[in-house]
Amino acid sequence: MFRDKTAILAIDQGTTSSRAIVFSRKGEVISLAQQEFPQIYPKPGWVEHDPEVIWATVIATARRALKDARAKGWKPACIGITNQRETAIVWDRATGDPIHNAIVWQDRRTAQTCQQLAADGHEEMIREKTGLVLDPYFSATKFAFILDAVDGARERAASGELAFGTVDTFLLWRLTGGEHRTDASNASRTSLYDLKAGQWDDGLCRLFGVPMSGLPEVCDNAGPLGTSLKTTIGEELPVTGMAGDQQSAAIGQACFKPGQVKSTYGTGAFLIMNTGSDMAVSENRLLSTVGWRLDGKTTFALEGSILSAGATVQWLRDGLGLFSKASEIEALAASADPDSGVYLVPAFAGLGAPHWAADARGTITGLTRGSGRAEIAQAALDAAAHQTADLLQAMARDGVAADKLKVDGGMSANNRFLQRLADFCGVPVVRPVNAETTAWGAAFLAGLGAGLFHSLEDGRALWQADQAYSPSMKAEQRDQQRSGWQRAVSQALAGV
Ligand code: G3P
Repeated sequence: MFRDKTAILAIDQGTTSSRAIVFSRKGEVISLAQQEFPQIYPKPGWVEHDPEVIWATVIATARRALKDARAKGWKPACIGITNQRETAIVWDRATGDPIHNAIVWQDRRTAQTCQQLAADGHEEMIREKTGLVLDPYFSATKFAFILDAVDGARERAASGELAFGTVDTFLLWRLTGGEHRTDASNASRTSLYDLKAGQWDDGLCRLFGVPMSGLPEVCDNAGPLGTSLKTTIGEELPVTGMAGDQQSAAIGQACFKPGQVKSTYGTGAFLIMNTGSDMAVSENRLLSTVGWRLDGKTTFALEGSILSAGATVQWLRDGLGLFSKASEIEALAASADPDSGVYLVPAFAGLGAPHWAADARGTITGLTRGSGRAEIAQAALDAAAHQTADLLQAMARDGVAADKLKVDGGMSANNRFLQRLADFCGVPVVRPVNAETTAWGAAFLAGLGAGLFHSLEDGRALWQADQAYSPSMKAEQRDQQRSGWQRAVSQALAGV
């Protein structure tokens, strides 16, 4: 039988690994390559990546996935890029060489700069224009740090020699041999982008000390962005889609209607709720952000950011040695007393939404002589579930209550976690058949940009539920768990 063999390459450059997936137009995975890369921790609270290593892993995985797909008879037609957001890179326009390591979204080195800006009374204006809180998480203070840290960089930036960008922009530059573009979703994470005006803001660029002339052109999430050079991934293909990884997952999860919300459990965990064509402003310290921009029309979103989710499981594995494979946590947690009273607040790099406490530190409470590995494992998983519940409550207080939660990312394979998540959140939790929602979102955008799809409706039709989890915990038990968690959070915050 005739089968359309047109395919799409998604490049998913994440915090701990680079992945390349070739999808069919139906969203099936044809080939996949993944490569982890080292994290660089120069000082406590500092996190860097080597941009050359990012690049090397991206082209190696893309080449492998493309070769594999071609060997199976598929014909990749376009590329979508999705990426860890906010991570900042500055490079030389003439050579493409970075002048400093990438400063990663988790990096807290600019906390003092943010405190100073808040003390000088800029927080409200920044929030109104960008939808973001004043926090070292976002790119602006990271760009400024690089320009100040590298000898002569400010002068070189002033004379137009340097280009700035988040990871999407750096990859596009390298793939195409110099296209300097980003998309609206990534731009909205820099603190330099005026959400309502839909453009870089001169006042913000001045305030943060990031010359606007070094920033990329902001484009729609789907459409022509450039063409890859043969010397990079081995073939010339148009890049026709791009989005920050969390927005990409929201697209992969087909959250196309206002009120639909997804949560992705990767290194951190991020909830994105579609709020439609109006920018919703949170009274509860959630972020307003661009969901996507198509044909010049922006769909806005509210976001809740949890800074440590999968990273907490990694810490139990690598830091405490509680198990040797992350997947073992499910069985270990299942052997714990479900009401052990042990809580773990994973504030390793402070707490994100709704607290935004950069100085909060990790805490374990409620230990007894009977507490062991199982209780700590359970508390680590519960922490991500409680934080998700906190964010859904904050969204509800902002007037946008979710009636179900779509989940994806590594921890969504863990059935026990998803049941506790449904129990704490009090809404059904649904996992889709397509586990690769982040990469699929970028592939879908690329397909849209290349004319392989015609509207978001095509994406909705391809989304399918796999497993649903309904809340089943008794109200009394749930209230006890939730208030125990809130007490533990107060203790983590008390260190601030
Ligand atoms: O905002 C940071 C986020 O984009 C990182 O996602 O999946 O690389 O942890 P991930």
